[in-house]
Amino acid sequence: MERAILEYKGARYELPVIDGTEQERAIDISNLRKDSGLITLDVGYQNTGSCTSAITFIDGDRGILRYRGIPIEVLAERSTFTETAFLLIYGHLPVEAERRAFSERLTENSMIHEDMLRFFDGFPPTAHPMAILSTMVNALSVYYPGYFTEDFESGTFDLMAVRLISKIRTIAAYSFKHSIGEPFVYPRHDLRYCANFLSMMFHSPVKPYEIDPDIEKALNALLILHADHEQNCSTSTVRLVGSSMVNLYASICAGICALWGPLHGGANQHVIEMLEGIQQQGLSVRDCVARAKDKDNRFRLFGFGHRIYKNYDPRAIILKGMCDTLLKKFNISEPLIDIAMELESAALADDFFIERKLYPNVDFYSGILYRMIGIPTNMFTVMFAIGRLPGWIAQWKEMHDSVPLKIGRPRQLYTGPPLSDYVPMDQR
Ligand code: SDX
Repeated sequence: MERAILEYKGARYELPVIDGTEQERAIDISNLRKDSGLITLDVGYQNTGSCTSAITFIDGDRGILRYRGIPIEVLAERSTFTETAFLLIYGHLPVEAERRAFSERLTENSMIHEDMLRFFDGFPPTAHPMAILSTMVNALSVYYPGYFTEDFESGTFDLMAVRLISKIRTIAAYSFKHSIGEPFVYPRHDLRYCANFLSMMFHSPVKPYEIDPDIEKALNALLILHADHEQNCSTSTVRLVGSSMVNLYASICAGICALWGPLHGGANQHVIEMLEGIQQQGLSVRDCVARAKDKDNRFRLFGFGHRIYKNYDPRAIILKGMCDTLLKKFNISEPLIDIAMELESAALADDFFIERKLYPNVDFYSGILYRMIGIPTNMFTVMFAIGRLPGWIAQWKEMHDSVPLKIGRPRQLYTGPPLSDYVPMDQR
């Protein structure tokens, strides 16, 4: 095994260097503090690995993304979201018997407890669907209890996983129906995963919804493209919360909340609002790029930049192609796509973005596709959560399968006041 050498105050410390499958290397500092009294500091964990993982591989410089070794481009074209979910969670593509059993369990678990419908009466129609989603997912543990100690003995984990993957659709669709004052449309046992979601979202007793196979295929690809992305903010949150041995529902609830942020999954909603702003306020693309570069301006080019990708996000390339295909197929004129492509060209030609290697990320084009499907803008991040759920579950399982389970507890460097006296009120 190779070793890295740290020399400090005359002492010499040898730190093991471990290799990943794709020749990535890491210095293992597990014993650094015990041996040297030193810790490392890495705000935002830009250089710090929290775990080893066999689920997803990303090469940010070459724009590579693979789930369990299979390129995302192949899965988006040839797989289904439920098959990809199985692959991520169980580590292999299902054989026919496994596929059928998984599909049947998803179907069986698509409804939510009738008592949970009353929760929606308490949400105002204007409630953000991510607030509803996180609330309802956490509440699943009330109606479908499963705690850590039972999860792996009695197969409760497998049941909790299918319950979450199936019911998240139902909760999302019900939040939309609640926001528009329409009756809930129950899941159907004769529809596949994505078709069932579209039916719950857009069918109504007075206006039947016809499922278009191209829309169903696009939704499958959208969810596949979002299904996992190694140790991003929300996945790291799911792992950290799950490391306390809380149940899977609560861990996923935490991940949903982390994803909501505009720097993370919330960006897809902000991209559309940014593009609409340019269109409605008559902003020029040049103004937009200039504002994004202005340090005194909090405005950012949403959908641009990435911690890992210093090249095109491979998902953005696929999504852009899907936009073209669907726009042509449905003969839709979507002015936002023209603005998006103009914005992309302007940014990619600008030294500020070139020097910082800022490219379109997964959120830049996904919103345009969701709009085409009919998803309201404030539900775009909910769609991201539906897609990312299998990845969160897979990462949670991988952490719990690793023995021993270590609770996540980072260190800090204290920079506050030294030992101080308590000053009584009349002396302050
Ligand atoms: C997702 O991690 C994942 O894998 C996430 C994700 C997943 O699948 O889970 O891929 C999903 O969250 C995609 C990212 C969605 N977020 C956005 O589109 C929001 C806009 N992007 C930025 O806020 C930013 O690029 C981040 C948050 C994505 C990444 O931030 P970093 O890695 O901390 O980089 P940084 O903020 O330190 O930026 C480096 C430089 C800075 O300028 P300088 O201080 O060097 O002068 O680039 C600038 C930044 O100001 N910059 C941008 C910018 N992104 C970075 N400037 C303008 N517009 C932007 N979008």
